[in-house]
Amino acid sequence: MTTYQFPQGFWWGSAASGLQTEGTIPGDGKGKNIWDHWYEIAPEKFFNGVGPEKTSQLYTKYKEDVQLMKETGHNSFRTSIQWSRLFPEGTGEINQQAVDFYNEYINELIANGIEPFINLYHFDMPMPLQEKGGWLDRGTVEAYVHYAKTCFQLFGDRVKHWFTHNEPIVPVEMGYLYQQHYPAEINLEHAVQVGFHEALSNALAVKAYREMGLDGEIGIILNLTPSYPRDENDPKDVKASVIADAFFNRSFLDPAVKGEFPKELIEICKELEILPDYQEEDLKTIKANTVDVLGVNYYQPRRVKAKETPIDHSNGPLPEDYFDYYDWPEKRINPYRGWEIYEKGIYDILINLRDNYGNIRCYISENGMGVEDEQRFLNAEGMIEDDYRIEFVTEHLKYVHQAIQEGANCLGYHMWTCMDNWSWLNAYKNRYGFISVDLAEDGKRTIKKSGHWFKTVSEANGFTVE
Ligand code: BG6
Repeated sequence: MTTYQFPQGFWWGSAASGLQTEGTIPGDGKGKNIWDHWYEIAPEKFFNGVGPEKTSQLYTKYKEDVQLMKETGHNSFRTSIQWSRLFPEGTGEINQQAVDFYNEYINELIANGIEPFINLYHFDMPMPLQEKGGWLDRGTVEAYVHYAKTCFQLFGDRVKHWFTHNEPIVPVEMGYLYQQHYPAEINLEHAVQVGFHEALSNALAVKAYREMGLDGEIGIILNLTPSYPRDENDPKDVKASVIADAFFNRSFLDPAVKGEFPKELIEICKELEILPDYQEEDLKTIKANTVDVLGVNYYQPRRVKAKETPIDHSNGPLPEDYFDYYDWPEKRINPYRGWEIYEKGIYDILINLRDNYGNIRCYISENGMGVEDEQRFLNAEGMIEDDYRIEFVTEHLKYVHQAIQEGANCLGYHMWTCMDNWSWLNAYKNRYGFISVDLAEDGKRTIKKSGHWFKTVSEANGFTVE
């Protein structure tokens, strides 16, 4: 038997986002964001035609949900404020109902011993700002900073862990390269500008937070996908992996933690003449305002090899002009999401942060496994027996534990997610939660086997396995 004991005060919990959980009810004052708009104009894109207004109804069920968090051993929980709920127009007039809701929700968490971690931007651009260009437009950066400051003022007395963005590379790649988020363009020049504005907005929000003298910490949440070369002894494969890493990981990791952009990326942008518009002052702001803490979302690695296929320029340049994806024959796949399961990746990330990023305070802010049709695993008592999820978390936690033993500064583990929730184009296809949500029964919640198991882990601050 081996026992994996975690450091005292380890954060055990889960993550979600406002848009994916809250739902919209008539008269709640929420404005439209890009998901509401996209669903209106192209509902067929969403799995089974389920749109973002449905979600898990947390807006009305949050008290019940907080009790379920308690019952599943949460000592901390992350969600995001919906920008379009607080500011229906993105800026300007504030929605008092949103202020009341977030106050009550945050208070409820705290009253139940659950530390709220609050993120500001989780893919939910208010539509009036998107109409002016969204992250392409510098005006959005200003509106975001105003939104951020307002949140700090309203909730900063109680919220001690703030995050500026969740996975800022996702709006870049999915909105401007791979067409999975609105406005679904394929345009590397726009992608670069969007990424720059997001990085700048992060630094400006960090600056604003520090200037307000609040007694918490502020960070950013990044989805880090370690880039493994096909052959680590082949310099061409290695170069391909370095470039993929610069595009998808270091593009935000380096400015957020070190205050500068990767030189490989700058060189490529110069060569392609797609450097973003910026002011000299911006680079100083980014340099001077790095984060206190880093959230690491880890789902899958990225495997690459030197470019072998012809470059297709029909949509202009793309990151894939510099590498090809490598199909590792030994990979294990989660067939529902199509993502590789590679537990050691979580260890490699933490060791990289230890060695190359000043061992910054960090935690695993998302990790998880989306599975379709979990009703197959219902037992006689009506509980989903998701042993695969318990195994998935256990195997990742073993590597987190090893990294901590070797000096990584990892402070917690949050699962994606608490309740099954709505996911972007996939809607309710894949379920990730510790707690199931029955859409046919008005969102009835039932704790899954993994939720009961997680409570034992949280209470023991670790686990024992054979
Ligand atoms: C992360 C996001 O990328 O992964 C979540 O922060 C998302 O918002 C989660 O839901 C799981 O991915 P997906 O696409 O299967 O929902």
